[in-house]
Amino acid sequence: MIEVTNVDKKFVNGNESNHVLDQVSFHVEKGEIVTLLGKSGCGKSTLLNMVGGFENEDSGKVVLDGKAVKRPTRKCIMLFQQINLLPWRTVLKNVELGLEGEKMEVAEKNKRVTDALKLVGLKEHLHKFQHELSDGMQQRVTIARAFAMQPDVILMDEPFAALDTFNRYLLQDELLRIQEKMKTTILIVTHDIDEAVYLSDRILIMGSHPGRIFKDIPIQLAKPRDRAGEDYHYYRKRILQEFELSGNRQEPEYTI
Ligand SMILES: Nc1ncnc2c1ncn2[C@@H]1O[C@H](COP(=O)(O)OP(=O)(O)OP(=O)(O)O)[C@@H](O)[C@H]1O
Ligand SMILES: [Mg+2]
Repeated sequence: MIEVTNVDKKFVNGNESNHVLDQVSFHVEKGEIVTLLGKSGCGKSTLLNMVGGFENEDSGKVVLDGKAVKRPTRKCIMLFQQINLLPWRTVLKNVELGLEGEKMEVAEKNKRVTDALKLVGLKEHLHKFQHELSDGMQQRVTIARAFAMQPDVILMDEPFAALDTFNRYLLQDELLRIQEKMKTTILIVTHDIDEAVYLSDRILIMGSHPGRIFKDIPIQLAKPRDRAGEDYHYYRKRILQEFELSGNRQEPEYTI
């Protein structure tokens, strides 16, 4: 579904050139949840923006469902950490926003919107405004809006980073439940190792300066995963070791 091949990117400011992505290649199969995990500044958002068509590569190729990505499309929706709801619109009208401009019967539009709001557990709150909702509920509205558009791919840039732990866990479970039903392909950017292990079919570990992918780790655990289980901790530790934070102070073979 997503094919990134030998992507290179530099940001140039006057005489200074910042080599952000160096020969980055990866793919995401249809229906997979894949996470880009890496330290701050390693180029995760830049890479995600390229897949979404918001940023151009200097060289290399970004292909979505067989077509080169040139600009953002409705087939591939981006969800950000910041909650971008229109405060003067109700929950229902905020979700409808995603479908505005689409040629479709009113009945079909209403069904898509109410189905999506049911999926995120907000059907009792259709007529509320943003200020009447908790942070978790607000992020649920943005998730409902994305799924109502029925995209092939959802890109998420640290979608739950602003939430407290319990809300984050709850929304991670909801995301998995909805994805299981809709089979949407999801590419997530995070620096939260727990989030990556809990959600991902595969984790792509990125190094910095310049950003590159140096490990592709399949998480071979059935979902939903037991956050307290031994298997879960095995993967958590393995990934921590990749980042040299595990307390196991072996000399790394590479620098991040
Ligand atoms: N539009 C831009 N113009 C110039 N430099 C940029 C631009 N966008 C990103 N950069 C630089 O590219 C590098 C990677 O940024 P990016 O936002 O992709 O990192 P990130 O991995 O998402 O970090 P974080 O985890 O902090 O969000 C940084 O050095 C950043 O300053
Ligand atoms: Mg970022």
